[in-house]
Amino acid sequence: MFSTNTNKYKLFNEDALSLLSRLPNSSIDLILTDPPYNIALNSTGNIKLTNGKTINNDIAEWDKKSINPLDYVKDFKRVISPKGNIFIFTSYSLLGKWHEAFDKEFKTFQIFVWHKTTPTESVYKNSFLNSCELVVCLWNKHHTWNFLGQKEMHNFFECPSCRYPEKISSPNHPTQKPLVLIEHLIRIASNPNEIVLDPFMGVGPTGEAALNLNRRFIGCDICKDYCDASLKRLSKF
Ligand SMILES: C[S@@+](CC[C@H](N)C(=O)[O-])C[C@H]1O[C@@H](n2cnc3c(N)ncnc32)[C@H](O)[C@@H]1O
Repeated sequence: MFSTNTNKYKLFNEDALSLLSRLPNSSIDLILTDPPYNIALNSTGNIKLTNGKTINNDIAEWDKKSINPLDYVKDFKRVISPKGNIFIFTSYSLLGKWHEAFDKEFKTFQIFVWHKTTPTESVYKNSFLNSCELVVCLWNKHHTWNFLGQKEMHNFFECPSCRYPEKISSPNHPTQKPLVLIEHLIRIASNPNEIVLDPFMGVGPTGEAALNLNRRFIGCDICKDYCDASLKRLSKF
């Protein structure tokens, strides 16, 4: 276990629910997070390609532990400020559960789509590529919303998956999100100096994006290697 505390960011290596239980009421301006998708629970295993390589269909060990959105409603609602916003990346398999747990608790429940222009290719031409990721968006009346024009208001954003040199190689995080996407969401849904929380931060793109945009950051991950990578990434600020 470690925790890091500067004026700009605080990082915690622990279970998300344990950190959430200590955060004061209405203390967070934006929750932007990317919890496990539980895709690995339905996986048929890694796929072997003809060139001898494999496509990682299992994602990671951390994705195999079942996550229940109902466990997060009470604390997400308690810690978010009245004008705050919540963005939660999720998968088709958990979308229904996030909706069931959160829709009735907030004025608005919307879906935002990230279109990856560089999805993992499929050797078989028998399905669509998984080129879109879903983000659940939640807020109440009078929430912060910084739009400049109609074009930015589309619930759709297009950019490549995270690639070298931004992609961290050690530890390799299979679902590292690109900064340009995260910065887009933070810019729209929060203001400078406000606090952004990511209780499933992985290798810390939400933290770096928040600090790039002069917000403050609270991050947490259960995996020590990912926390170390986040700390390394944020120590330049
Ligand atoms: C989808 S990944 C997040 C990736 C992150 N957005 C990034 O770009 O690096 C989900 C993360 O949740 C972490 N995790 C899983 N269960 C957790 C829990 N109970 N509490 C905190 N973190 C957890 C995993 O270690 C993993 O890094």
